[in-house]
Order: sequence, then C-alpha cells, then structure tokens
Amino acid sequence: MNVTATRLREHVDRLADEHPPIELDSVDYTVRDPEAFGARFGHVLDYMARVELEVDRNVLELTTMLPDPPEIDRYFYADVWQPQEIRHGIILDRLQVELGRPPAETNLDEVGIKLRILGALGRHHGFQDVCRMLYYLTGMATERSAVLAYNLLHSGVVEMGEQAVAETVIAPIKRQEPGHYAFYQLSARLHWSRLARWQRWLVRRMRTISFAPVGANTPQQQAAFGDLMDTLGITPALDDFVARVSMVERELLWAGRQGLRVPRYVVHAFRDAVEQAVATRHVA
Ligand SMILES: [Fe+2]
Ligand SMILES: [Fe+2]
Repeated sequence: MNVTATRLREHVDRLADEHPPIELDSVDYTVRDPEAFGARFGHVLDYMARVELEVDRNVLELTTMLPDPPEIDRYFYADVWQPQEIRHGIILDRLQVELGRPPAETNLDEVGIKLRILGALGRHHGFQDVCRMLYYLTGMATERSAVLAYNLLHSGVVEMGEQAVAETVIAPIKRQEPGHYAFYQLSARLHWSRLARWQRWLVRRMRTISFAPVGANTPQQQAAFGDLMDTLGITPALDDFVARVSMVERELLWAGRQGLRVPRYVVHAFRDAVEQAVATRHVA
C-alpha cells in the first residue's frame, strides 16, 4: 500500500471510531418560534432531509455502477457513510414534521437507466475505473456543498435564536460532513493518479455532460435547490461558492487549462438552478 492508500484506511478507521451515527435521543427539537423558523428554513430542511435520506438509493446506484468495489470503498459507504447520512436525514425530516410540514418525498429505489448502462459497461475493468472516478468526483462536490451549506444554515439558525436546533441538530450533522469530503478527496487524488490517458479523457467528457448539483435532477428539484441557495445567501456569491465546490476537480481534471477558475459545466449547472427557481417563482 502506498502512502495515500494507508492514509485513506486510517481516515476511515478514524471516522468509524470518532463519528458514530448521531443518537436519536440526543436531539432536542424545541423551536421557540416554529412559524418564523418554518417560513424561513422549512424548505431548506426539506431539501437536505430528502438528499440525506436518499443515501439508500445512492448505495443501490453505487452497487449497480460499481459491482466490484475495492474493500476500502465498501468499508466507507457501508460502515461509515450510509449509517451517518441516514441519521442526518431522519433527524432533519423529523424536525420539519415538528414544524408542521409534510415529510420529505424521497426516491429510494429507482436506479436510472444511465447508471444501469454504466454498470453493464463496468464489467470491463478499465471502464469501471472511469466510473469510480466519477463516483469520487460526485462525492467530493456533494460533500463540499454539504459542508458549506450546513455552515450557512447553522449561522442562520443561531441568528434566529434557535439554540436547541443549532446545537443538537445542525452542529452535530455539520461536524460529520468534512470527513466524508476528505474521504472522496483522498480517493479522487489517488485514483486519478492511476488512470490512463484514455480514461482521463473519458472522465472529463462524462463529467462535462452529466454534472448536476446534489439532488437536483429534475426541473422541480433544480428550482428547489435554487431556492435553498437563495435562502442560505449563496446566490449573490455564487461564483465563489462554485469555485470552492469544484476546487479539487478543477485541479485534477483541468490542470492544463491556465486561468480556468471553475469548470464551465459546474458554473452552468448551478446557474441553471438559480434560473429555474426564478422562473418557478414567476409562474407561481
Ligand atoms: Fe449528511
Ligand atoms: Fe455527507
């Protein structure tokens, strides 16, 4: 095992050890002003709850797309990541129900045709390595978005004076996200270094045509994501946010392009979500 592979294993061991899933009875759902809190952040909780709960579908997608994962990947997603994320989802969803909102509508078991095709092609080993890279890149962008979004949500909740929720819901969740990001980042760096030219070329192509912000796969979901960015104050500083989300992806995939601050497909995907939200508001 080389240095990065050893670090990766130690990292997952540490997460398993230091970050058990959040205890459900450690959570205090007391909200001082449920109406004001729900009006401001209800839709944000709903979006995050859905994405977190859909971790079960993500695992299904993963096992379809990568039928033959390395042990370290399986260890991470089955023993660390899924148990943590599902709790995030359960807690956030319960909080929005406490506020009088309906629970999140999730899609837990429908694996899209695109991923099934990738899975079928993935029996070819060289191609499965391309899929793995796409998985790490998606994980990186998703977890980085989560880290930034939970930080902003935490500030907003504190600002509203909702201490119980800030301390027992958002803070414990946000503490677990950077470890996920670190896993994908280490994995992406290690894996990219092993890919051949044709594989790298294919990763760039496929990423360019398939990138989407986390959980935003339909126009409705894009609009909901646009609203989330608006409420969290991301929209006015969108370019900066997008640059942070895609920093390592740009470094690895697009190192040769001097002056490219953010991959264009990432900027476009986030801007589409903002525009979709504006368009939906005008119709409503
Ligand atoms: Fe999470
Ligand atoms: Fe996460």
